[in-house]
Amino acid sequence: MKVIFRVPILLLSIFGGYALAQKKNVGYADQRMLKTIDSSVKHSANQYRFLKSITPVDRFPKTYEKESSITSTARNWTSGFYPGTLAYLYEYTKDQQLLDEAESKLRFLKSQKDNTDTHDLGFMMYCSFGNVYRITKKEEYKDVLIQSAKSLAGRYNSKVGSIQSWNRIKALDGSEYWDFPVIIDNMMNLELLFFASKITGDQSFKNIAAKHAETAMKNHVRPDYSSYHVVTYNPETGMVNSRKTYQGFADNSTWARGQGWGIYGFTMVYRETGDKRFLKTAQGMADFFLNHKNLPEDKIPYWDFNAGQTGFPSSWNYDTAKYPVIPRDASAGALVASALIELSGYTNREKGKQYLKAAEMMIKSLSSPAYTAPANKNGGFLLMHSVGNLTKDREVDVPLSYADYYYAEALLRYKTLLK
Ligand code: GLY
Repeated sequence: MKVIFRVPILLLSIFGGYALAQKKNVGYADQRMLKTIDSSVKHSANQYRFLKSITPVDRFPKTYEKESSITSTARNWTSGFYPGTLAYLYEYTKDQQLLDEAESKLRFLKSQKDNTDTHDLGFMMYCSFGNVYRITKKEEYKDVLIQSAKSLAGRYNSKVGSIQSWNRIKALDGSEYWDFPVIIDNMMNLELLFFASKITGDQSFKNIAAKHAETAMKNHVRPDYSSYHVVTYNPETGMVNSRKTYQGFADNSTWARGQGWGIYGFTMVYRETGDKRFLKTAQGMADFFLNHKNLPEDKIPYWDFNAGQTGFPSSWNYDTAKYPVIPRDASAGALVASALIELSGYTNREKGKQYLKAAEMMIKSLSSPAYTAPANKNGGFLLMHSVGNLTKDREVDVPLSYADYYYAEALLRYKTLLK
């Protein structure tokens, strides 16, 4: 009885809407994970103190390549992850300097609330301001989040039933322009809209988010629950023009991080809407990922499930000789670990146990020296071996700020299941 009453209250205070839905999986958690999680968080907090010491005040850590730190301005889609990771690590350690550093970055990030040029505002603002607001409850952060949601909602097209991801862009192979591209990643930006609906009482944010998810479910998810990265639309008629890739191996392949964005995104949309179709989609996508014959034993995927295979004609110049060993993508592993912890709370017992076991394996793999960088190495990032954009030959086998963010989130999510 004690556990049944105490745990949800604790979770509620930490994760708000996320925690409310977490009930069943508490009973499946493996108490032995505590040791791994405690030592990984301790190491992570130290590593981020080091990252803070080498990061210019007005810049945002992005990656570390060829022994150089790569940072960005607030405008980059990855800018919210560093403050978000600091917020998670603060939550665990209560080290005030981590929260202070997160808040100092928000001062530079705030201007992005009016950025209507990108769909990435969910990543940029919810992962940063959203987490810091959850901890501090400062009104000014709430206002930034509401304005960010308005900017994001402005990209919604009711004919298509989707938020536009990128502005008009040339296809990867240069053969055409895409007027209204939507990427599976966009599922992740919807959480900002659900938040805005709850905090303002304005249902239009939630309606837009739910409709976007419904359209993505119809057009991005294949019958076997794998996923297309990009779907392009005619913005006047709302019809699908094409199904493509921009960051994956081939149009009909399954880009691992895209599949991960889908698993995480549909799980979150189910939490926010209670619509079982989204749960079915999240489970189907998770099962595709976990049962795939090309998923390595440590459950950290290759950057694309079909990389280098025949039957997946690549429309860009994939150089097999350049990648004799297919790179892994730890960022996909980290975000799927986090998503599976949540998903395990919504399914039947058998599935829930299976999802949580898989998340445990992923956390253990990521926390091992195979992926976790030694202290003060790896440019201060936590995880090694992610792939940003291999099709453009950028950020291959490197650390990435978003891999760290979802890893820290997975550690915290698992921790809340433990006594
Ligand atoms: N949203 C961009 C990426 O996943 O690389």
